[in-house]
Amino acid sequence: MKLLHVDSSPKGEHSNSRALSRYFVDRLGERVPDLEIDYLDVAAEPLSPPSGLFTRAIYTPPPERTDEMNVELAASDRLCERALDANALVMAMPMHNFSMPAAFKAFVDNLVRVGVTYTFNEDGRPVGRFGRHRVLFITSRGADLRAGGPMAHMDALTPALRAAFGFIGVSAPEFVDAQPLQFADRAAHEAALARAKAELDGVAREWGGGLPAQGSEKQKA
Ligand SMILES: Cc1cc2nc3c(=O)[nH]c(=O)nc-3n(C[C@H](O)[C@H](O)[C@H](O)COP(=O)(O)O)c2cc1C
Repeated sequence: MKLLHVDSSPKGEHSNSRALSRYFVDRLGERVPDLEIDYLDVAAEPLSPPSGLFTRAIYTPPPERTDEMNVELAASDRLCERALDANALVMAMPMHNFSMPAAFKAFVDNLVRVGVTYTFNEDGRPVGRFGRHRVLFITSRGADLRAGGPMAHMDALTPALRAAFGFIGVSAPEFVDAQPLQFADRAAHEAALARAKAELDGVAREWGGGLPAQGSEKQKA
């Protein structure tokens, strides 16, 4: 399995979403011995938001692009190649003002590319190229926006991720949302992290084909 692991929190070592994505990758590595990891930190190495030139270049057919346009698209081209080259994506982010942080939005804007990560079929419908990728989003939230709660309607992050990645072919992404982590007492914070870790264990088990983790009691027996 080749995994593209993306972190996007600006909080470095103090980040909840980074700790959770690291936890997941460690659990996955115990189950998938040939796990290959391509790591991308879009907070430390930010992608540029679309410039005027970029927006013209992406809709210009490749043979007609100027050298200037090709230079402008180079980082996005490389990003798309990296993501298409993987067969699994884990993307971790904090919720910022009810949606994704700006660094992750720039990542999305550089990844959703006509003719590269999606094309149109004969009926004019978009066809994404990530239909075979396993995809997991790990999000961390200060408040509790879980379904059924009073703040659930304010979660603009989950639908935004579903729409953008659905457009490039991801039909069944998995979500592990750690919440509430900030506007909560210590017990609720700890419980939220424990819930998220249990869910991440489940995704690692599923992605590992249900095999026991290497080094676990079952494996040793
Ligand atoms: C600029 C900013 C905006 C935030 N907006 C929200 C928000 O809209 N809803 C929410 O639940 N938490 C919000 N938070 C809290 C973070 O989502 C929360 O602390 C999260 O655990 C941070 O994850 P991280 O440690 O990986 O950065 C915000 C935090 C910051 C810094």
